[in-house]
Amino acid sequence: MTTSWWVPPRTDEPELIDLPTTPWEDVLKGMRDVQRLNKLLLTYNVLLDTLLRHVRWPEGRPLRVLDVGTGLADIPRALVRMARQRGAAIEVVGLDLNARILEMASEHTARYPEIRLVQGDALALPFEAGHFDAALNHLALHHLPTDGHVRFFQELDRVVRPGGAVMVGDLERSHLNVALARPFLALFTSEIAQHDGIVSILKALSAEELTDVLARTGLSYLRREWLAPAAQFLVAGTKP
Ligand SMILES: C[S@@+](CC[C@H](N)C(=O)[O-])C[C@H]1O[C@@H](n2cnc3c(N)ncnc32)[C@H](O)[C@@H]1O
Repeated sequence: MTTSWWVPPRTDEPELIDLPTTPWEDVLKGMRDVQRLNKLLLTYNVLLDTLLRHVRWPEGRPLRVLDVGTGLADIPRALVRMARQRGAAIEVVGLDLNARILEMASEHTARYPEIRLVQGDALALPFEAGHFDAALNHLALHHLPTDGHVRFFQELDRVVRPGGAVMVGDLERSHLNVALARPFLALFTSEIAQHDGIVSILKALSAEELTDVLARTGLSYLRREWLAPAAQFLVAGTKP
């Protein structure tokens, strides 16, 4: 695919948080910055609102949600708080590839029995077909290899029941987004998050590439429906 002049070339440079050699304190700093930015940019509110638009809370059993690339399990915790406020039952699985990050997440989820943390790969989800009412992901698509993008959407689709929701939010690669992110990250985040933030944008899909990936998934119910300040795009839909 030819890229437009406003799209920089895609990098395969790794993010520091993904490297086993990065000191643990730095990984933690980076993850805490992600947490702070998500709060600052109201990411959780948008994700929860979108989820509720796409899936109906089941009667007589808990809502089952999968959060892929869960990091410090902020999204699972936000989901549980929402369910508790509504007096409704929920079960959330937070899945992540990185065992060190999951260890930290487990400290944050000690008072959330509704959350189960699982180590696993987004490209081979260790769950039965149709198990979840919703499968979502925020800021992890750009961590995946190019040949995994289509499969990732298909994996999310596989583990969701008909009538359930699939949602994927991520960054969009463009010169403009890099230019806007630099001063913003410098103002609000640590050095590791400044590095990984820019690398993340340069690893992310461009708008054209996302359209192409979605077309190749064969999942016509998925729509790019909202431009978020943090995630920059959100693809969502209700599985028919
Ligand atoms: C930038 S963090 C986002 C954390 C969280 N979703 C949020 O928005 O706060 C990306 C997470 O994706 C995880 N990740 C990267 N590749 C993955 C894969 N193949 N399968 C599952 N998780 C992955 C990383 O370990 C990291 O915790």
